[in-house]
Amino acid sequence: MRRTLALSLFAVAALLPGAARAQGNLTVYCSVQEEWCRPMVAAFERATGIRVAMTRKSSGETLTQIRAEASNPRGDVWWGGTGDPHVQAAEENLTEEYRSPRLADLHPWAVRQAEQARFRTVGIYAGALGYSFNQRELERRRIAAPRCWADIARPEFRGEVQVADPNTSGTSYTMLATLVQLMGEEPAFTYLRALHRNVNQYTRSGAAPARAAATGETLVGITFLHDAVAQKVGGAPVTIVAPCEGTGYEIGSMSIIRGARNMENARRFYDWALGAEAQAIAATANSYQLPSNRAAPIPPQAPRFEDVRLIDYDFARWGSAAERTRLLQRWEREVRAAAR
Ligand code: F6P
Repeated sequence: MRRTLALSLFAVAALLPGAARAQGNLTVYCSVQEEWCRPMVAAFERATGIRVAMTRKSSGETLTQIRAEASNPRGDVWWGGTGDPHVQAAEENLTEEYRSPRLADLHPWAVRQAEQARFRTVGIYAGALGYSFNQRELERRRIAAPRCWADIARPEFRGEVQVADPNTSGTSYTMLATLVQLMGEEPAFTYLRALHRNVNQYTRSGAAPARAAATGETLVGITFLHDAVAQKVGGAPVTIVAPCEGTGYEIGSMSIIRGARNMENARRFYDWALGAEAQAIAATANSYQLPSNRAAPIPPQAPRFEDVRLIDYDFARWGSAAERTRLLQRWEREVRAAAR
């Protein structure tokens, strides 16, 4: 009798909406914009019945968190964010090797990212770095339109430039490593100190300066071009610049956290997130990166690499723990601490 009751309770529970819980849980650390994290997670829950707990943090902040939790991991998958900190996490043994069967569906740049990190991360999207400026404010102040990195370090942009803090933000670290590769390290630091005089705020999140340029809170915001596009699509009076000297780019990445409590579900998410259907969610969430799945549609608004003068960004080198730590420390000492 007791057994029959238990069985029928089980049957009723299976019919309840909470039955999806039977598929288990997953904790995702998300490092893209919240407006893309949410629909992504919701679509995965619908497709699998797995319940997802998601938190959004910038790329550098997420690396710091995963490192702090290493002896007792709380997250399962780290989805999104610039590739350099994912590469560093791989080197520090914070993430798990996984060879998804979906690797065969990806662009070579995404597979290369995986190979270089011994399959502890993988490319999920790409996007070039640049800046946007508020056209209305520029005209009001009668300043000539900037086109190059050099222009926004000029005195007429004093207090008019916003960029994120490279310690918390992968976008800003991409800028730091880009300028070093583009100019050479000494000239890059001379440039960064000149730029520092013009910076009104180092934000935590990389995309925030694009929003500030859209509202006119800052004249210039340094971000990935796709983050500026998101503002323009929303009707903001911004002009988007791919700097004339050339620029770097990110390979947005995904990693499984070492010791994940929900390893099976982490792999399911990983495979699903590499699929064309999942990657097509980006454009519906105001996110205009280039997807890594070859069959995923490229949003028409996405800035194309063919239109940008790209450097040959060395992800293995600038994502290595030694170089990333060294550059960030040098930036702290010589740029942030410098007088304005
Ligand atoms: O989602 C927008 C985006 O620019 C991604 O393309 C990028 O990987 C991420 O944000 C970087 O964010 P942050 O600079 O805050 O680490």
